[in-house]
Amino acid sequence: SKRVGIFVSGGGSNMRALVEDMQGDHPARPSVVLSNNERAGGIAWARTQGIATEVIDHRPYGADRASFEAAITDALAPYDLDIICLAGFMRVLTGGFVAPWQGRMLNIHPSLLPKYKGLNTHARALDAGDTEHGCTVHLVTPALDDGPILGQARIAIEPGDTPQTLAARVLVQEHRLYPATLRRFAAGNTTPLTL
Ligand code: GAR
Repeated sequence: SKRVGIFVSGGGSNMRALVEDMQGDHPARPSVVLSNNERAGGIAWARTQGIATEVIDHRPYGADRASFEAAITDALAPYDLDIICLAGFMRVLTGGFVAPWQGRMLNIHPSLLPKYKGLNTHARALDAGDTEHGCTVHLVTPALDDGPILGQARIAIEPGDTPQTLAARVLVQEHRLYPATLRRFAAGNTTPLTL
């Protein structure tokens, strides 16, 4: 089966949804969880599951992204990964890292791309007066939050919604969308999925 590396920076709820789905007849297995942050909740949870973890702190590298990314590449080498899933990984990866993985690296983003690339997506959807919102899984290319869309899930924006209420409802959809999309992708299906 396909070997998957999952990159997290925070709580790791999407990583957890992916790991919990990768069982039985699933065409992939979690090989390693990598974080730039030793205190990421996702790292602690992965360890309780007996999944290998790697922590590469970005801070000692300062602005030297190439050296940070070289350290990630070195740390991943023993795992011989087939697929990388970015799951709330909050460091921008340069083209130097992304290019060798192009077509094999997925990201989940909390907006209906191509709308609202970057940060503060929920507040931006509200400020724009949008009536719907959601999340997107896409293939990673060197351009931020760009690249072919593999899946999207939508929610309605209701009166009284705040960035916090939207984030919570979108996150529920992320936990459905990312595992469903990875399952299809690992089996060779890149036809966009709509939930
Ligand atoms: C998720 O909402 C994910 O879409 C978002 O961060 C959250 C991580 O939550 N990602 C980005 O904003 C990427 N720029 P999690 O750690 O609980 O999965």
